[in-house]
Amino acid sequence: MDKVLFNLYLKGLFRICIFLLKIASIFDERFEKKISFYRYFKKKKKYKKIFLRLLHQPKMFIFNLPYDSKKLTKKIYNYEMLYLDNQKTNDGHKKVYQSKDDLNNRKEFSKITNYIEDFINKNISIYFENNKLKLIKMWIVITKNLGIMKKHSHFNSDFSGILYVKVDNHKNYKGGLKIHNVMQNIEIYTFSKHKNIFKKKINRKKSFIFKPKKNDLVIFNSYIEHSVVNKNSKIVDRISLPFDMVF
Ligand SMILES: [Fe+2]
Repeated sequence: MDKVLFNLYLKGLFRICIFLLKIASIFDERFEKKISFYRYFKKKKKYKKIFLRLLHQPKMFIFNLPYDSKKLTKKIYNYEMLYLDNQKTNDGHKKVYQSKDDLNNRKEFSKITNYIEDFINKNISIYFENNKLKLIKMWIVITKNLGIMKKHSHFNSDFSGILYVKVDNHKNYKGGLKIHNVMQNIEIYTFSKHKNIFKKKINRKKSFIFKPKKNDLVIFNSYIEHSVVNKNSKIVDRISLPFDMVF
């Protein structure tokens, strides 16, 4: 089945993949979860075959940035539209503020935008045959105590990421970024600063929670569905800067 789907996928026949998975899911519900993957490609502009090959394998990269985020935190709290331009009030998310997604075009956030873009291209373009990614959208997310964010993926971009600016370090805190691993084969590359190399692991669980530390930068295929869980959070504001990138 996987081989058939892969060949249809490479030919851009995503509708047929979805159709086959719908039939297969009558017999085994695990197939239904995989539909979201093909739906993303169906909605996207046409990819060349080389990109389809590159993107088929879900990947997640994890770094801890050597970045002093004090000034950045200040800029976020000084952002003139803070809490005024909330974009997600009707999306079913709870106690979550999300700013407009054009932060990358604002002068006060140009430093962090360029830093992230350069850092990612320097460190991971090797996995994409040296194709460079451009950051096209960035926004502020502030999650209040017990705020949650529903499952979603980011259409209209190739890779999405999150920089964690303020996190909950409380030891009993159970929240974090929930990754819905529908293909059950995500490759996780964690960068080790000391050794200057990536440690690679394959996660085959249906879903898992990534618990971020301050200054963690994660980047993953935009088709990967994710949500935010937040149990017994002790801090009032958790701040992150999500962003979208395209080739
Ligand atoms: Fe997201």
